[in-house]
Amino acid sequence: MAEELHKWVVMVTAQTPTNIAVIKYWGKRDETLILPINDSISVTLDPDHLCTTTTVSVSPSFEQDRMWLNGTEISLLGGRFQSCLREIRSRARDLEDEKKGIKIKKMDWEKLHLHIASYNNFPTAAGLASSAAGLACFVFALAKLMNLKEDNGQLSAIARRGSGSACRSLYGGFVKWIMGKEENGSDSIAVQLADEKHWDDLVIVIAVVSARQKETSSTTGMQDSCKTSMLIQHRAKEVVPKRIIQMEDAIEKRDFPSFARLGCADSNQFHAVCLDTSPPIFYMNDTSHKIISCVEKWNRSEGTPQVAYTFDAGPNAVLIARDRKTAALLLQRLLFHFPPHSNTDLNSYVIGDKSILQDVGIQDMKDVEALPPPPDIKDNIPAQKSKGDVSYFICTRPGRGPVVLPDSQALLNPETGFPK
Ligand code: ADE
Repeated sequence: MAEELHKWVVMVTAQTPTNIAVIKYWGKRDETLILPINDSISVTLDPDHLCTTTTVSVSPSFEQDRMWLNGTEISLLGGRFQSCLREIRSRARDLEDEKKGIKIKKMDWEKLHLHIASYNNFPTAAGLASSAAGLACFVFALAKLMNLKEDNGQLSAIARRGSGSACRSLYGGFVKWIMGKEENGSDSIAVQLADEKHWDDLVIVIAVVSARQKETSSTTGMQDSCKTSMLIQHRAKEVVPKRIIQMEDAIEKRDFPSFARLGCADSNQFHAVCLDTSPPIFYMNDTSHKIISCVEKWNRSEGTPQVAYTFDAGPNAVLIARDRKTAALLLQRLLFHFPPHSNTDLNSYVIGDKSILQDVGIQDMKDVEALPPPPDIKDNIPAQKSKGDVSYFICTRPGRGPVVLPDSQALLNPETGFPK
């Protein structure tokens, strides 16, 4: 090939959201294909606040497949990346870029190497499902680059091979991951139940809880639960199938009390399965438990649920408020019980959609320090304050699915294909 022909770089940049399960995925029936033992349902979070952006590129000048995550080179040799790459390459099609005068034939994709750069707009180590957004973005962007004709449902089955919950990040709004029956996993895909506009009153507040110790990885935790817990079998076979039907109905009808009751019960049962595992797994900590008590007391005092809570394999609380007004009252309560360490600026303690704070007249830390105890706290019980237990709060909402971004937002240099 002539020297100048080696110079071209073709790239695609995509953005993919993260998601939080309200009916949890816990336990695999096939470790390699990543097939779950029950269906799960999630809410996609607004990518403005939590998302992965990934640029994938191809050039005859690349000598090997390489990937950079948040600016640092990482290995692509792991099974999860390799499974996705293999599935995508096998479905790749002819590509013609008329503007650049480039033609890539279907069979060329096997020989051409890739450069990939990915960036999470939230701390990767904070336990906020970064691998779900990350693997979904990896698959979605590569599928666009290699001109795959598969729809998002079919792409979800490829993303599932990278990280189970990644399959739910292929859609916005409310998503169900159908466990499927086939041994080859072909029917274990995500489907959209409703888009993000269907129930746009909901506000999501995430309390990022300071974790002290390294948690058991989800992969190990699930394996241990499947081997040792009796509760997990009862949950997968008897409880979740009924809950899935009820949760779909609650979402369709925008029935917040049912949504909250089912979501809280399911989170609690998932953590009960973790406790029922040998050795027991503790994902929640004292702060998580205090947040549950705070929400449960408030919901009870109102007579009907105002806020739902759900916890994944870590101590962070994901709180879903029925509307903006409730979210503002929730934040007021959370800031009262969990004020930051001294000298923390409110702008870095509450991130995302900060306008919710203005609804309750909180403008700076002085306003936080002056917050009165929530009204349902009895005068004879001193209100508990836990300074520094929460690292920060993220205010967000249900959000859209993956999108392709213009080249101006690429993370790789269009001339060299190396990180900018
Ligand atoms: N794991 C965490 N974040 C990721 C990303 N953006 N891409 C791939 N894997 C990830």
